[in-house]
Amino acid sequence: MAYPHTRLRRMRRDAFSRALMRETDLTPSDLILPVFVREGRDVVEAIPSMPGVERVSIDRLLRVAEQAHALGIPALALFPVTPPEAKSLDASEAWNPDGLAQRAVRALKQALPELGVITDVALDPFTTHGQDGLVDERGYVVNDATVEALVKQAISHAEAGADVVAPSDMMDGRVGAIRAALEVDGHVNTRILAYAAKYASAFYGPFRDAVGSAGNLGKGNKYTYQMDPANADEALREVALDLDEGADMVMVKPAMPYLDIVRRVKEHFGVPTLAYQVSGEYAMLKAAFANSWLDERACVLEALTGIRRAGADAILTYFALDAARWLRG
Ligand code: PBG
Repeated sequence: MAYPHTRLRRMRRDAFSRALMRETDLTPSDLILPVFVREGRDVVEAIPSMPGVERVSIDRLLRVAEQAHALGIPALALFPVTPPEAKSLDASEAWNPDGLAQRAVRALKQALPELGVITDVALDPFTTHGQDGLVDERGYVVNDATVEALVKQAISHAEAGADVVAPSDMMDGRVGAIRAALEVDGHVNTRILAYAAKYASAFYGPFRDAVGSAGNLGKGNKYTYQMDPANADEALREVALDLDEGADMVMVKPAMPYLDIVRRVKEHFGVPTLAYQVSGEYAMLKAAFANSWLDERACVLEALTGIRRAGADAILTYFALDAARWLRG
């Protein structure tokens, strides 16, 4: 009888040998928590399409930040919910030194200087049409004028104390323009996390509910600047350009339907590569958990491990607090 010469099951038999040959680890230090901040005091507002995620006022945000820090999560990614009256065609609230994002950054850095603060650089929370940039009379998002606005926004974030500015707008040339302006203003250590391969994804729906841009965008779409989900080679070109312009880290977004992109970017460039498990990925898992169709803890940790295995150095995830608790417990 010809027995198998190699028995892969031998190493799987006991927990100790499974642990010894485990290739990928997942720890709280791999996670970044996205947070939604709104005006007010002592406000915690549920987001129906993102159960368990809330819009919080700055005072409440500090408590969330303390929890994240205590759990070993290295950084938060901040998303402001702009009141409708502060939105405009020129998005000027985006670089208001006393805007919500800028105040939130200052409060966070004062309360918890060690916790990294990442800000979103894009105009969609501030425009009346919900696009990430400035539009011409036909509604087309114009590149170079938008880049000028993004530079002002990024500088205002750096001045407020943001550790990392993260352009999520997908304009051409914005990373280089932001880097140059940061250098001129002496913010040499402000890092840039480029949303380099950001796809025009339907999985952003719940996020647009959360920041209140869904109604502004209406039936509009972002196909003229975000990437076509069918493309992979183009993602490498986007990443190459952003690195060349001075990005310190690059991101692939969304995560789960784009793990091949995460793998190719990591293999090709060998640079800090982040993945964003976006709002729709969160919402669909939560919906399954609410119906007891999937086991929450097991599925969340498996999904995050899969994103790490694909090559992500860190993951932006709305599950960060729970996952960190499970990983520590
Ligand atoms: C805005 C921005 C979006 C997300 C992060 N920054 C939405 C969009 O591009 O429409 C999506 C995040 C998520 O879905 O969790 N520039």
